[in-house]
Amino acid sequence: MRNVLETIDFNGAKFDSLGVNYLLHCLPGDMATKARAFDLLSPLMSPGAVVFGSTLLQGGVARSFAAQRLMAFYNSKGIFSNTQDDLETLTRELEKRFSAVSVETVGCAALFSATVKGSGA
Ligand SMILES: C[S@@+](CC[C@H](N)C(=O)[O-])C[C@H]1O[C@@H](n2cnc3c(N)ncnc32)[C@H](O)[C@@H]1O
Repeated sequence: MRNVLETIDFNGAKFDSLGVNYLLHCLPGDMATKARAFDLLSPLMSPGAVVFGSTLLQGGVARSFAAQRLMAFYNSKGIFSNTQDDLETLTRELEKRFSAVSVETVGCAALFSATVKGSGA
């Protein structure tokens, strides 16, 4: 397993797409801090590559009572670390780094995609 919060040494061909499903809500820190993972993953992707993923948010989304209870439990156990994660910051951090950013929500799940700049498109 590689740690997305550290530089990843990889000499293979660059990826045209990269998925980070349900990863960010497990990473420590606030959304701006965990978005550093995108800086460390970007060198692995080719220009124009699509990064996509999903994450569970607490701010700026609708959370059912069950979601609130479950998230509180998982955060208390250190399984989740998303108490400060919100939709606005996720969108802003993606837009800082990528083009064609799309973020949709389904309940408290954010589904996002974005394109690595530099494709010339
Ligand atoms: C909720 S699971 C999601 C797994 C899978 N992506 C999926 O959608 O079924 C979160 C995953 O993030 C991984 N993970 C947590 N912290 C990580 C880190 N710093 N670097 C890389 N992977 C990490 C865990 O090992 C776990 O597999």
